[in-house]
Amino acid sequence: MPVEQSALMEKLVALTKRRGFLFQSSEIYGGINGCWDYGPMGVELKRNVKDAWWRAMVRDRDDVVGLDSSILMHPMAWRASGHIANFADPMIDCKRCKKRYRVDEIDPAYEDTGIAPTVCPDPKCKGELTAARKFNLMFETHLGPVAESAAKTYLRPETAQGIFVNFQNVVNSTRIKVPFGIAQQGKSFRNEINPRNFTFRSREFEQMEMEFFCKPGTDDTWFEYWVGQRRQWYADLGMNMDKLRLRQHDQAKLSHYSKATTDVEYLFPFGWGELEGIANRTDYDLRQHQIGMRSVGKWQGQDLQDFPLVDEDKEEFSSGKLSYFDDEEKRRYIPFVIEPAAGADRATLAFLCDAYDEDVANNETRVVLRLHPRLAPIKVAVLPLVRKEGMPERGQAIYGDLRKRWNAMYDDSAAIGKRYRRQDEVGTPLCITIDGDTMKDGSVTVRERDSMQQQRIAADVLSRFVEEKLA
Ligand code: GAP
Repeated sequence: MPVEQSALMEKLVALTKRRGFLFQSSEIYGGINGCWDYGPMGVELKRNVKDAWWRAMVRDRDDVVGLDSSILMHPMAWRASGHIANFADPMIDCKRCKKRYRVDEIDPAYEDTGIAPTVCPDPKCKGELTAARKFNLMFETHLGPVAESAAKTYLRPETAQGIFVNFQNVVNSTRIKVPFGIAQQGKSFRNEINPRNFTFRSREFEQMEMEFFCKPGTDDTWFEYWVGQRRQWYADLGMNMDKLRLRQHDQAKLSHYSKATTDVEYLFPFGWGELEGIANRTDYDLRQHQIGMRSVGKWQGQDLQDFPLVDEDKEEFSSGKLSYFDDEEKRRYIPFVIEPAAGADRATLAFLCDAYDEDVANNETRVVLRLHPRLAPIKVAVLPLVRKEGMPERGQAIYGDLRKRWNAMYDDSAAIGKRYRRQDEVGTPLCITIDGDTMKDGSVTVRERDSMQQQRIAADVLSRFVEEKLA
């Protein structure tokens, strides 16, 4: 049954708290804005999302390898990548109510006109606004106990740079050849001016990024290929394709590193929102790090904001340390990079929104998460009808068997109807009920989440039946 979109977000937030998917960070202290904790169900769901991505992007392919680089990096990496100079949003403060806004959010025309609004958008305030200022989104920190500029670095705002600085290490330590990709999942941090829409815009979040290195001139073809692959990934995990769209960025509004970008967007209850961006980053990053490597010897700890990078002529670039020797072509070049960059939290939120459903039967509303079986936190629940006549023992034995292969749950705590509802709310595809007949012939009842249909299954084929249903 379609759920009213305006009410969906509120219902989903309540469900995710009630059933242990998501909690506000530091809730007992009143919470901290833009940070979220995943509870017992949420951590399984997000892990399944990340595993599905890792499988599609790394394990099922011969041309992509994995990496897990550190969150803290040499500060010169952020100078070279352009983040110290460019990773900023325009912000504006209200002099009366002290609220802070992203200028482009309260006035989308600002990007084109450069004219900032002057009056607070809050109708109850209408105070005067300050002039617009650039606000760098990177969180600063210091390595070691000394708070001086030489020790200053940043929590990474994207995982991508950890991949670029390891390009040579991966080439030298594997037999992989261009075209190939390096994939990474991990935390990123951005001091967002206005975190909002539940986990959609957080200050601490997880990314799933892949940098695909290819020969210059083949980049447009690979770009189209990866846009198609990434769209298909959401479809394979059961996402409603009417709510997914591809949006090409205007040439004039591309990021400083990009030649082309297409976003994969989902229609959230609060409107269309970006799930991931596929960008043609050209050879920008490897070139920049090559300049960074040469500049670092001249750096004596001064503020990196104003530190001039050593300039290099173009000829030297293609023979530099971050270049690649193409065996077939017998020449060196700096590979171009196609980057599908997704958010694990945004994908998880989109799958939750997409899965939320309500059924009405016998004047009762059933809340059900119709998650794809691969994403469901619990795959199968074992429920003895009553807590006597040997049923709990038989149930425990079946549960013990099933949990060797799937994330299973055993529950004998309430009336059977109530236990079914609990499993529906967390999206468990199958419930196995142990009853009087089980004690006679070993057969069990399997109830399917979506149809609520029940089938009698013999003990010796149960495992195969579950396997087929979860495929
Ligand atoms: N390396 C490229 C890059 O970081 P991005 O579009 O800024 O590109 C990639 O980020 C993805 O990371 C986004 O599509 C989104 O899914 C996720 N993401 C970015 N900022 C986020 C935030 N504040 N909260 C949650 N997810 C975020």
